[in-house]
Amino acid sequence: MMPRMRIDKFICKSTQLTRSEASTFLQAQKVCVDGKVFTNGATQVYVDNEVTLDGEILIARPSRYIMVHKPRDTLCSNIDEVYPSLFHHVGVEKAFDLHVAGRLDADTTGLVLVTDDGRWSHNIIMPDNECEKVYRVTLRDPIAEDVALQFEQGVLLRGQETLTLPAKLEIVSDHEVLLTLTQGKFQQVKRMFRAVGNRVHALHRESIGQIQLDIEVGQWRHLTLDEINLFIS
Ligand code: URA
Repeated sequence: MMPRMRIDKFICKSTQLTRSEASTFLQAQKVCVDGKVFTNGATQVYVDNEVTLDGEILIARPSRYIMVHKPRDTLCSNIDEVYPSLFHHVGVEKAFDLHVAGRLDADTTGLVLVTDDGRWSHNIIMPDNECEKVYRVTLRDPIAEDVALQFEQGVLLRGQETLTLPAKLEIVSDHEVLLTLTQGKFQQVKRMFRAVGNRVHALHRESIGQIQLDIEVGQWRHLTLDEINLFIS
């Protein structure tokens, strides 16, 4: 369990109940913290509190940390919309309670990290941490010689007032590059190439920090302890 957590979330993490079902139990005065009834779902509980539901002691499941190889035409959202949600590919209980640490567009493939630990995902996406993400990009036009320098110096994206942070460009071939970003603005890769007069034809994320995608498309796996610890604060 985290050092502290909302009691409604704690109930979900330790039972099969949804947040609204947990709320119903709270309102029915069935939940106690250290022997005292609590009805407000926002109440914080701490590691050393004893939480009971209908007299049964609750033990929270440990947080989950997972890598998914996102297929094309899936959404990094918890609901199905134009395309199905990526969470259909995550074969764990209550997969739809997880969230992604850094979204990809529907047509982008590659590494997505999913978890139910909000502090951990915050450490990945927080701009101050400058976590490096590596993208393999297939381009419409051959890569121009000066683009690496432009990306290193920063480019102005449409609708923005400041330049992008320095990014590293490695040329693989005429139409293929590896781009390393420490920022995560909406559709940043596509907008950066648009800013230099090119277009992205295919986009694939290979790594996030030291975590490398090493599973086949549509597969998932739990992260190792070493991988999890990279983003524990
Ligand atoms: N940049 C994009 O343009 N799209 C993505 O999916 C990720 C980064």
